[in-house]
Amino acid sequence: MSTTTTDLYDVIGRRRDVRAEFTGAPVPDDVLHRVLDAAHRAPSVGMTQPWDFVLVRDPALRRTFRDHVATERDTFAASLPPERRTTFDRIKVEGICESSLGVVVTHSQARGGTHVLGRHAIADAGLYSTVLAIQNLWLAATAEGLGLGWVSFYRESFLQELLGIPADVRPVAWLCLGTVSHLETVPDLERHGWRSRRPLADAIHEDTWQAREDDHA
Ligand SMILES: Cc1cc2nc3c(=O)[nH]c(=O)nc-3n(C[C@H](O)[C@H](O)[C@H](O)COP(=O)(O)O)c2cc1C
Repeated sequence: MSTTTTDLYDVIGRRRDVRAEFTGAPVPDDVLHRVLDAAHRAPSVGMTQPWDFVLVRDPALRRTFRDHVATERDTFAASLPPERRTTFDRIKVEGICESSLGVVVTHSQARGGTHVLGRHAIADAGLYSTVLAIQNLWLAATAEGLGLGWVSFYRESFLQELLGIPADVRPVAWLCLGTVSHLETVPDLERHGWRSRRPLADAIHEDTWQAREDDHA
């Protein structure tokens, strides 16, 4: 494998969802620009480029969002059976105020007009495109030595109102982005005994779908 190839696999292998390792030091503007540019180069259905990036640095906005996320965390915790709840209680689910900044990635299904090439049968293809931008951003951040944590413990309407996002634009993710002390080698959920990685062999099907024991687990 060429150096470039091994570098890419190395970044994919090192990428982690970060919650506790942020240092809070600022991300240099040129680095942030490269990471956002990588996101902006993602493939998109009909070349719609349906994403936007709201950079949230204001501490008051971040505190307000963090408090909302804490409420949603409680809502989820209350839905758990006691044993799962004990495990969940140990897991940190966000680093909103500790990260260097928040990047809210939005999705506009209206971008591209009414005749989007490739989306007539699968409306979600629009959303898939925005998610690919997020993955590019995540890998680029890792390559730059930064950490990123995806937060989804929120109500979309709350975040729309907080940041003045129009009603037809969906906030798909709040990404905590920033400098880190280190990246863990094992995912947090695995380290805390919540859930482990599935073997690749279980995810591969030859020609037709093969039912697996964990299909509903
Ligand atoms: C769509 C999506 C939403 C996620 N939401 C959260 C979240 O709200 N809080 C959190 O701590 N991690 C969140 N994660 C991170 C996952 O828990 C994490 O990716 C998974 O446990 C595997 O760990 P790794 O990313 O470090 O490999 C989210 C990931 C994805 C892809």
